Amino acid sequence: MEKKFKRTTITSALPYANGPVHIGHLAGVYVPADIYARYLRLKKEEVVFIGGSDEHGVPITIRAKKEGVTPQDIVDRYHYLIKDSFEKFGISFDIYSRTTSQTHKELASQIFRTIYDKSGFIEQTSEQYYDEEAHQFLADRYITGECPHCHSEGAYGDQCEKCGTSLSPTDLINPKSTISGTAPVMKETKHWYLPLDQHEAWLRQWILEEHKEWRPNVYGQCKSWLDMGLQPRAVSRDLDWGIPVPVEGADGKVLYVWFDAPIGYISNTKELFPDSWEKWWKDPKSRLVHFIGKDNIVFHCIVFPAMLKAEGSYILPDNVPGNEFLNLEGDKISTSRNWAVWLHEYLEDFPGKQDVLRYVLTANAPETKDNDFTWKDFQARNNNELVAVYGNFVNRALVLTNKYFDGKVPNAGALTDYDKETLKEFADVKTEVEKLLNIFKFRDAQKEAMNLARIGNKYLADTEPWKLAKTDMERVGTILNISLQLVANLAIAFEPFLPFSSQKLRDMLNMSSFEWTQLGQTDLLSAGHQLNKAELLFEKLEDDVIEAQVQKLLDTKKANEEANYKANPIRENIDFEDFTKLDIRVGTVLECQKVPKADKLLQFKIDDGLETRTIVSGIAKHYQPEELVGKQVCFIANLAPRKLKGIVSEGMILSAENSDGSLAVVMPQKEVKPGSEVK
Ligand code: 2FM
Ligand code: ZN
Repeated sequence: MEKKFKRTTITSALPYANGPVHIGHLAGVYVPADIYARYLRLKKEEVVFIGGSDEHGVPITIRAKKEGVTPQDIVDRYHYLIKDSFEKFGISFDIYSRTTSQTHKELASQIFRTIYDKSGFIEQTSEQYYDEEAHQFLADRYITGECPHCHSEGAYGDQCEKCGTSLSPTDLINPKSTISGTAPVMKETKHWYLPLDQHEAWLRQWILEEHKEWRPNVYGQCKSWLDMGLQPRAVSRDLDWGIPVPVEGADGKVLYVWFDAPIGYISNTKELFPDSWEKWWKDPKSRLVHFIGKDNIVFHCIVFPAMLKAEGSYILPDNVPGNEFLNLEGDKISTSRNWAVWLHEYLEDFPGKQDVLRYVLTANAPETKDNDFTWKDFQARNNNELVAVYGNFVNRALVLTNKYFDGKVPNAGALTDYDKETLKEFADVKTEVEKLLNIFKFRDAQKEAMNLARIGNKYLADTEPWKLAKTDMERVGTILNISLQLVANLAIAFEPFLPFSSQKLRDMLNMSSFEWTQLGQTDLLSAGHQLNKAELLFEKLEDDVIEAQVQKLLDTKKANEEANYKANPIRENIDFEDFTKLDIRVGTVLECQKVPKADKLLQFKIDDGLETRTIVSGIAKHYQPEELVGKQVCFIANLAPRKLKGIVSEGMILSAENSDGSLAVVMPQKEVKPGSEVK
């Protein structure tokens, strides 16, 4: 930490309390935040680590409605489940509270009010859909209708889940309220907006010039938002679940969930330290670090800082280590498709093995790109690294000490050059781990910590004390003394990463004091110190245990496919004549590019045998434009032209859709002449 800071305020994204947490949450946010908090605490720095549940927002109300319970019932259920999972995984929050707390309601209202009183918001009236029967305005998700692009029914007011297109409610054909089933009407409503456009200049300077050290994925996303130009963002909603907008004439309006949620970090600090919370948030000597996933970058780097700046008395984040996503066995983790490893289920299936998951998730942390979790890799890393390297070294050092020295740390005699080299390597690793942790490279830092264990293993293998036991006990003592010092170092180095194993190791070593500054020291255990009984730190994972987990996922996949098939049954028969109305042709892709300001669309120029035609297709999430140039695709040639984002699309490219929503463009299996008919 740079000298200018005195203390660190660590926050980790507040998960929505409308479902349990899974490995993606742990890998992306909570394990890295916890490693960092533990590391700073070990260094005896002043640090607070804040967590909590995000308990407002529309999805929670939808879930409640579906289950016929209140939103409060939903958040109560999941808040405690999530809190318990985090606790059991050793996520060492100083507080884990919730955004339905009284402290939070008061503080969020107060911050809104301060900004309001300083004229930090603009008020705008707009027309929004209103359900006349239910007497309420409709959030985007409460409106369904026909998608204007793919014409499937049941598209939501913010997105069509069939073709992936982002929508606004007014795009829907025949919109219906999901509350009463009636057609909604347009009605005027007033909202408060944070004028981000007015904050753009200082945000550009602050992020793009003064925080070039932020991770490239975080910096890049901010840059692209700023380059597109910021727009005012509504910070209120017409909803009956949330914190009431604290101004006159705002009946039925609540703070937008993304306005109140990040304030939750502050309120939770206030709940923890009612008298001294302000120093963590207002003293420029406090360093604020937000741990988040990539979908939260804009809120933490642009919107929340703009709120804090508008309020005027708060510090801004010094860094926002945002992670990419973790996939599971090659597919995107999905709550609705149950494609996840849920933490509460893992705890049941692998009792006492929290550190194994922590280790694997850090080893595979999606720090620079999306990464994949597979059960095979989980098994391999456990068996080949935790058991064979770390556990094995510790076990050999302890068992040999028991055998030859009754579990007492032997004296170290004269050191050989090789002993000295080994100890030097140890000291170097410490510097390296520290350097990496300081810049949030947790994956590499853990790898370096594991290197300590590798050095130890190699040292024992090279010096072979068991062979010297008959001839040179003094040398055996020296080797074991050094080995035990290395083991004690491991207990410290791994504490941020694998806290349960470090605790176990410290118990075995009967080691009371441990601090980061001791790392690299070779006198952590004095001669004559009595060790406790040795136990295995890690256990091998057998194939059947792993296969059971893989089978569980295969079962999920099968159930999803069946459900998908049921939801998408074969449609009723049509006449051959009807079929012949469709003119499907093969074309060759001449050009392909992204459509600006439409993250789902690609624009094609296709050689259709006669001329070049333009087709816009919603597959940008599934292909890079250059992958498709030169390829042959099938397209509907006689679909009436339609405008998408201002571009006239002359046809539709055919794709097959997987049950997880991923798309694969249909291509002829042999090259054919452009313009060939598909029959
Ligand atoms: O994406 C999410 O899960 C949000 N609930 C994160 C909120 S982070 C913070 F602002 F509270
Ligand atoms: Zn659609």
